[in-house]
Amino acid sequence: MRRVGVLASGRGSNLQALLAAAESGELGGTVVLVVCNLPGAPALAVAERAGIPARVLPHRGRGREEHEAEVHAALRAEDVELVCLAGYLRRLSPAFVRAWSGRLLNVHPSLLPAFPGLEAQRQAWEHGVKVSGATVHFVTEDLDAGPIVAQEAVPVREDDSPEDLARRILEAEHRIYPRAVRAVLEGRCRLEGRRVRVEEGA
Ligand code: GRF
Repeated sequence: MRRVGVLASGRGSNLQALLAAAESGELGGTVVLVVCNLPGAPALAVAERAGIPARVLPHRGRGREEHEAEVHAALRAEDVELVCLAGYLRRLSPAFVRAWSGRLLNVHPSLLPAFPGLEAQRQAWEHGVKVSGATVHFVTEDLDAGPIVAQEAVPVREDDSPEDLARRILEAEHRIYPRAVRAVLEGRCRLEGRRVRVEEGA
């Protein structure tokens, strides 16, 4: 079984989607560790309910290098092969990103490269786009700019509030993230320049 680590800071709904896929054999691997930088984050309860080991590694009061060294060591101690960011609210340093290059995924609530950064759903709504969506991408040193593994478009309805849109985008995230993780774990993603060629699964 391929070993997946998840870094989360918040609600944990993408973590939940990854765990559900692992449970039903659709992830192509198993989540062996959840690392959370915010004590008390709901994601910790999600891990606990699923019986997955969770480590709280607070960033507060530590330097970035020191904190990331702890996260890195925790992942290595569990022989994690692929790290999934799932609402992890910390920018990772270039050194961390390089250490996990090609083995670090993120899910973002817009059709990148449109609307990187925080509150992407609201950014899209305020801009007035008619279609937004969700993206799974490899993490590189530039924010929300790494090679794209999967995307799903979500139409913006005329009467959508930003919250309505965010809700439907989140559903799309939950569909594409496990599929993208599986494609990576099964070795079906080939990087060609900044394009990811994803072979169909069995
Ligand atoms: C998601 O919208 C994800 O795209 C973004 O942060 C949010 C995390 O939500 N990176 P959750 O904690 O997975 O519910």
